Amino acid sequence: MNTRFRPDEISQRIAELGPWFQNMTIGGVETAPDHFLGDYPNCKWKRFCHVIPHDLSGQTVLDIGCNAGFYSIEMKRRNARRVVGIDSDPQYLRQAAFAARHAGVDIEWRQMSVYEVGRLEEKFDLVIFMGVLYHLRYPLLALDLIHEHVAGDKLLFQCLQRGENGVAEVAADYPFGEWDIFDWPDFPKLHFIEHCYSEDPTNWFFPNRAAVEAMLRSSGFQINAHPEPEVYLCTRGRRGYAVDPPPAIASQAK
Ligand SMILES: C[S@@+](CC[C@H](N)C(=O)[O-])C[C@H]1O[C@@H](n2cnc3c(N)ncnc32)[C@H](O)[C@@H]1O
Repeated sequence: MNTRFRPDEISQRIAELGPWFQNMTIGGVETAPDHFLGDYPNCKWKRFCHVIPHDLSGQTVLDIGCNAGFYSIEMKRRNARRVVGIDSDPQYLRQAAFAARHAGVDIEWRQMSVYEVGRLEEKFDLVIFMGVLYHLRYPLLALDLIHEHVAGDKLLFQCLQRGENGVAEVAADYPFGEWDIFDWPDFPKLHFIEHCYSEDPTNWFFPNRAAVEAMLRSSGFQINAHPEPEVYLCTRGRRGYAVDPPPAIASQAK
């Protein structure tokens, strides 16, 4: 453990940097002990950590929507050579920098939106994209940009899901008069939140499971593992659609 902080300083600094979304234990002090999901994200990580190699020596990792750095720090603990964490919120990045300093790990933090990943001009062995998609107004654009610019090999992905957990078998095409499929609960669906959900106005789209899997495939990610209901480990493959996203949209999305 890094000893640059005195114990009494840690509690004070955690309070100053709050509120925290990720609960992490820093110098014996929890950052978000009352998290509505429990000891989050540690309790979730424990359910799928086995799909990530214990030794990431030599590998590079990009953590998009890194928040306070929980997953970035875990990747460094698994010996990743280089970890870059990006988030659009500078307050979360300040938390991440504090947590990483205390953990004694070297991680590069950058304030950046997922829509700007092209600016990194680098492909990473592992891209982590956990808990961000449903906060985006342009979810497919984000997946397309990740595929195009930063995904070198693996994608670790998580998305909040609502609706049916089954996955309908979808045909390659349907006639214009086909209506019934849209009433199937397991047809790929994105539920749009116009106002607010769970007091968070940044929740925009909640896909059902079929939609999550179809969107990943459509953006060129092959699903290798589904170790937890919301979590997928994918490999970068061929994109499932034929037309490039218009560059004008990519540059306008914020
Ligand atoms: C629900 S938290 C998930 C944090 C972390 N990845 C996890 O799974 O615990 C969503 C995070 O995404 C970040 N975020 C939201 N929109 C973003 C965007 N357009 N680009 C990058 N990060 C974004 C938020 O600031 C927040 O840190």
